[in-house]
Amino acid sequence: MIDTEIFKLAMQSLPGTVLERVPECGFILGSGWSDVLETDREIVRLPYAEIAGLGAVKVRGHAGEMLLFERHNRLICAFMGRRHWYEGAGWEPVILPVEIMRRMGVTTLLITNASGGINPALTPGQLVIIGDHINTCGINPLIGEVVDGWGARFPDQSNVYDNKLSALLRRAATMCGATVTEGIYAFTSGPVYETPAEIRAYAGMGADIVGMSTVPEATVAAAAGIRLAALSCVTNMAAGISGPKLSHEEVIEQARRNTPVMSAIVDSFIDNLPDTV
Ligand code: HPA
Repeated sequence: MIDTEIFKLAMQSLPGTVLERVPECGFILGSGWSDVLETDREIVRLPYAEIAGLGAVKVRGHAGEMLLFERHNRLICAFMGRRHWYEGAGWEPVILPVEIMRRMGVTTLLITNASGGINPALTPGQLVIIGDHINTCGINPLIGEVVDGWGARFPDQSNVYDNKLSALLRRAATMCGATVTEGIYAFTSGPVYETPAEIRAYAGMGADIVGMSTVPEATVAAAAGIRLAALSCVTNMAAGISGPKLSHEEVIEQARRNTPVMSAIVDSFIDNLPDTV
């Protein structure tokens, strides 16, 4: 159950300047993506530990800061680093960034993550626009009472990832000379990496990539009517597909190697954000 009191407290922990203007876009940046932002002007930088209900990020490679900044004459609110379901702290810290941005009035969102490649046509370092997802967990942040602003009891999830925003992401990548493909993301609870048998099962379900994040935030955002797109960096091939033993170090290292291209795409995405997407 989501404790809405937490959301009120979270909003109260934000400096007043955060609420003066509605950001044109919100970001939630995952593993290895925290160093991609270029800014013209930083307005507020706030450690997660200072936001009630969010708390410090516990995973290496996740920065754990909220940054309000201007770039290309756009105001962007970025959450750099995320809390995960597998940390066992419940849903609040996982979906709090979405709810804070919703309350700020944000209607456009970009989510990024690191993933394992299931589709054998992928290689580590490749970028995948998430076209749709499969929640393999049987858990959902919308379980519980209906929360004001998060849509109906049974939200439609036919278009979680907005086509126009995904097309903008694709154009941004093309402008930077980067190759991106589109794929289906399978969400697992973690914290273990998958077994080869699980990966074969997810491949059979149609998944191209796998990871332990994004879907909770995307589910809530889409239900709340926020347009979103998601971009994943394939950091390794999933268990049993190929490659060495899986490790978080390898995931972070591969994402770091990709920082220049990821940074260029995110920057071009901001530059090309239309007034209404
Ligand atoms: N599995 C799950 N999550 C991941 C992986 C993976 O192989 N790589 C990066 N995040």
